[in-house]
Amino acid sequence: MDKSQKLIMLPGPTNVSERVMQAMLGPIINHRGDSFRELYKGVLDKTRRFFQTQGDVVVFTSSGTGGVEAAVLNVIRPGDVAVIPVFGEFSGRLAETVELAGGKAVLVESPPGTAPTIEALRAAMEKQRTFKALFLVHNETSTGVAAPYVEEATRMAHEHGALAVIDAISSLGGYAIPVDKWGVDMCITGSQKCIAAPPGLALMSVGKGVVEFLRKSPPKTRYFEIPRYLEYGAKGETPFTPALPLFYALDEALNELLEEGLARRVERHDEMSVLLYDGLAKAGLKPVAEKAVRSKTVVASYYPPGVEDAGFRKALAREKGVVIAGGFGPFAGKVCRVGCMGQINRSYVERTLTAISEMLSSSLNAPKPINPS
Ligand SMILES: Cc1ncc(COP(=O)(O)O)c(C=O)c1O
Repeated sequence: MDKSQKLIMLPGPTNVSERVMQAMLGPIINHRGDSFRELYKGVLDKTRRFFQTQGDVVVFTSSGTGGVEAAVLNVIRPGDVAVIPVFGEFSGRLAETVELAGGKAVLVESPPGTAPTIEALRAAMEKQRTFKALFLVHNETSTGVAAPYVEEATRMAHEHGALAVIDAISSLGGYAIPVDKWGVDMCITGSQKCIAAPPGLALMSVGKGVVEFLRKSPPKTRYFEIPRYLEYGAKGETPFTPALPLFYALDEALNELLEEGLARRVERHDEMSVLLYDGLAKAGLKPVAEKAVRSKTVVASYYPPGVEDAGFRKALAREKGVVIAGGFGPFAGKVCRVGCMGQINRSYVERTLTAISEMLSSSLNAPKPINPS
């Protein structure tokens, strides 16, 4: 097993600073004691600042999928209709989760590499007239496409009396989503992306409309029962045993983020993504996403002809120490995905671009295997 630390340029998990890694070595403490209460209250305060909300926030010991499932199980009741733009793997999964909860998913689809237009979304909402919620994946990590209309889509959902739930798992921190200003009812993110903490926690904002709804209609889930998290959160506790080392790490990663400043972090993601897109294009990799919807946090690009995906990525990790991801579904084998998240900086970008260019020229110039027949 190779345990050496490589440069992790995945679309999450991403590189974690030494400071955050060290924080995980804090003592195991009583999660019903004062030390944990102090830690968790601090985490909730910092999470509020990160989501730009005065409202409620929750941190689940779960990966991002748990956060999405929590949103669905708390909002959807059997028979409820949800409007869902579907433009890749994660938005597709979200729609399936709504159906699993007994809801009806009305899909607004668009071809891979694009996002449904705001006009298509508006038309779907108008056709539906009333529905329970809009579930929007802001950044489709499978294709490197960001839907550029969180604020407008939220406003449109509200015009139909619906809630707006945003999966910002691979984007919040690389993008700002000012939850209160835009009126987003629920926003979900994961610890392992732009926050640059280790994987294992899902963070969520919960607006007043959702809290009022849950008061009248308790959800049918135990682990993800939001009212219980809010009740315990008010005392600085979680209802169930928290993954303590991850909470230490999240606290430190949020300290780092707030010291840098959210605006600067977002700007850094902007700048680094420009360098990545430019450098990859120079190396002969064509972006999957149309320019207007290109993600700043996940850069998905087609390989030049003649590159074998799995072998290329393995050699890149082994020989250059740089880890990138492959494509999903229709893009498997054709596309690589490079994360531009969290600690991303000029030296990581340059190291990645050099590694990819060198690997490409050696794999394209490598002698082809001789056909034995
Ligand atoms: C947009 C989006 N939603 C949901 C998920 C699921 O998160 P996790 O893998 O942490 O469960 C991911 C993971 O990459 C994602 O990018």
